Amino acid sequence: MKPISTIDPLTNQLFFRGINATKLCGNSSFERVLHLLIHGQLPSHQELVSISERMVELRSLYDSEFDSLFKLAWSLERIKEDYKLNLNDTLLTFVSLAPLVVANEYGIAWGKMMKKPKKQLGHVANFLWMTKGVMPTETELDDFQTSLILHMDDPQNPSLSTLEAAVRDGKSISDIFSSTLNVHVEPLHHGAGYEAMMMFQEIKEQANVRKYLEQRLKSGGKIFGLGHRIYRGIDPRAVVLREMLERRTLNTKNEWLLKVSDSVAKYGRLLLSEYKGIDAYPNVDLYNAAVYFTFGFPPELNTPLFSISRSAGWMAHILDLSKSD
Ligand code: COA
Repeated sequence: MKPISTIDPLTNQLFFRGINATKLCGNSSFERVLHLLIHGQLPSHQELVSISERMVELRSLYDSEFDSLFKLAWSLERIKEDYKLNLNDTLLTFVSLAPLVVANEYGIAWGKMMKKPKKQLGHVANFLWMTKGVMPTETELDDFQTSLILHMDDPQNPSLSTLEAAVRDGKSISDIFSSTLNVHVEPLHHGAGYEAMMMFQEIKEQANVRKYLEQRLKSGGKIFGLGHRIYRGIDPRAVVLREMLERRTLNTKNEWLLKVSDSVAKYGRLLLSEYKGIDAYPNVDLYNAAVYFTFGFPPELNTPLFSISRSAGWMAHILDLSKSD
């Protein structure tokens, strides 16, 4: 089986099980790519129906006491015992319930009434329905699904290293997920989307970008959304998300976001070359932070949304590591 994810240093492209991740967007559902990650190949029609139906069934294990992904993680061992779930279904429970938990957390924190899940809706449409209270249009669904798919896995990242160590140490499923989540919220890596959006809000206008970034670097701060450990050119996911941001903000009150994020890419690169002597390109978080904002989600939701995506990769890695034992 091909690796869950790889980056080809020659073409600078990200692959999920050997398939270019950016090519999966637009024509795939979350469930389709999840199947690819966990089984190593794209599902047949019947397999897609089967995983999608199972995920809807597992939603019935939701409990309103799950007010954070940590709470869900801590409850997984109990759920596994109570419902006599095998490893696959225990992991799939985390993936299936993550959007419901994030919606619940969002509702509590922002005082919003969340809609009840609808059985006829898939994983992503159901989340948009619950949080927005209206059925997503086809474009809304495609865009949101694309953002989530692009974050499903990434080789060599801090939360993955933590997950791998926890599996190798024989930790329980609850402990594996909670230690992984702990690392996942760190600002330099997985919490960078939140930080990038906070930065855009402070910058406010394109005219402020250069001065703001220079002050930030002088005071030892980071320019969020630029630079990557592995990519040595523009992150291919940033290209897809920039195009999406341009389309979504055209002639709307959010047009400032494209101007500001493009300017951060331009001046950030110049300043990082001057101050740090590096060639830093936009990473996935630069445009994705802005894309989530166009859905009306506050910056604080960026990291939980990232966890909804990444839970797919975590599931695939745990299964692969368990097989290789
Ligand atoms: N802002 C400020 N400084 C940056 C930077 C950025 N965006 N990107 C790199 N640097 C700095 C590094 O901190 C390092 O400084 P040091 O020598 O004083 O320690 C130097 O430039 C060399 O960095 P490099 O080797 O190119 O990258 P790295 O592997 O050390 O760091 C990241 C990679 C992702 C942690 C880094 O680029 C970063 O902090 N980016 C901003 C956060 C972000 O967007 N994270 C999301 C990643 S998907």
